[in-house]
Parts: sequence; structure tokens; C-alpha cells
Amino acid sequence: MPDAGSPGIAHPITLNDGTTTRTREVTPADLGPIQALHHRCSPISRALRYHAGKPQLTTAGWRVLSDPQRGTTLVTTTEQHTDRIIAMTNVMRTDEQGVGELAVLVEDAWQSKGLGTALTAHAAQVARRAGHHTLTAAVAAGNAPMLHVLENLDAPRTRATGPVLAIQIPL
Ligand SMILES: CC(C)(COP(=O)(O)OP(=O)(O)OC[C@H]1O[C@@H](n2cnc3c(N)ncnc32)[C@H](O)[C@@H]1OP(=O)(O)O)[C@@H](O)C(=O)NCCC(=O)NCCS
Repeated sequence: MPDAGSPGIAHPITLNDGTTTRTREVTPADLGPIQALHHRCSPISRALRYHAGKPQLTTAGWRVLSDPQRGTTLVTTTEQHTDRIIAMTNVMRTDEQGVGELAVLVEDAWQSKGLGTALTAHAAQVARRAGHHTLTAAVAAGNAPMLHVLENLDAPRTRATGPVLAIQIPL
């Protein structure tokens, strides 16, 4: 089994329907396929990821997400179609030492197959490797699937005090 989170090594995940996938660090060549992923996602999925009505990933957003100094961005493809990105996972640095911010976007057609859960667990390993002791995630209070995914990662239950919850996951 490959060392999860090692640079240059693709991390295998098998979905509930038997599809085999590969998750690896982003490269500059991924911009087009990532834009295509955003285009295929529903407005609701994009809004849940960005907490805003983003039709696309902006150039400025891409610069942040693809800058290794700012954190780690992972992309997932199926084993068969390696040029089609079906999910993007981010573990970005924050102003707080040792605290990384997690975000996941799974293409609508690939949701509810166990990918988000596996990617979140993998992201926790990546965050540990980056020296983080805590992951935070900004999750809409009504985002039941993501809250469920984070519960699987033993995230403490957070009482909703507003439209977006700041969830802290000790690693
Ligand atoms: C949230 C997201 C990443 C989850 O990815 P996914 O691949 O669908 O996740 P999984 O299939 O691993 O798990 C989803 C879980 O939510 C559960 N779920 C789905 N709808 C639900 C609902 N309405 N209420 C409660 N649980 C729900 C599923 O049953 C599943 O749990 P299980 O594995 O115990 O059965 C994905 O839906 C997504 O990208 N959403 C849009 C962007 C987003 O919300 N990102 C998170 C912001 S940080």
C-alpha cells in the first residue's frame, strides 16, 4: 500500500460501486480539468464548497490552491480516465501555526459512493504529514453529507450558531 500523502505517489481509493480511483497532488497542467470539474458540478455543490455562488474557479483562486507554499491540493481521477478530475481536496495553511483548513469538492455524479469520506480521511493523513495538529472545516449548517463525513473522522459535534459552522478536528 502506498504511503498516503507522499508527494508524487497516487493514493488508491476503491468506491462503493467498485470503481478504482487515484488521488495525487495537483500540477499546473490540471487547471483545465479542474475548471471542467467545476463546470460539471451543480451550483449547489459549488456554493457548499465556496460558500458563495461561484460559477468557476477564478485565476486568483487557482493561484492560491496550486501554490505549495499555501498548502496541498489533491485531485482525484478514476483509474481508467486519468484526464478527467472527479474531485478536488484542499488542505490549506491558515494564519494559525499547525492548523490546516480542509475543503472537498466531489463531482455530483460521483457523490454518495464513499469518495468524500475516503478523501477526508486521506486529507487528515496529509495534514499530519504537513505538521498540522488540527484541521478546520467551514461547513454550511445544512450540509448533512459533509457533517456526516466529518463525524466519521471523529470531529466533535458542533452546535450551529450561524449559517456556517467552523469545525475543528484534532489530528
Ligand atoms: C460533502 C461531499 C464532499 C461528500 O462527498 P461524498 O463522496 O458524497 O461522501 P460519501 O459518499 O463518502 O459520504 C456521504 C455521507 O453522507 C450521507 N448523507 C448523504 N445525504 C445525507 C443527508 N441528507 N443526511 C444525512 N446524511 C447524508 C451518506 O449516507 C454518506 O454516509 P455513509 O457513508 O455513512 O452512508 C460532497 O457531497 C460534495 O462535494 N458536496 C459539495 C461540496 C461540499 O459540500 N464540500 C464540503 C465543504 S468543506
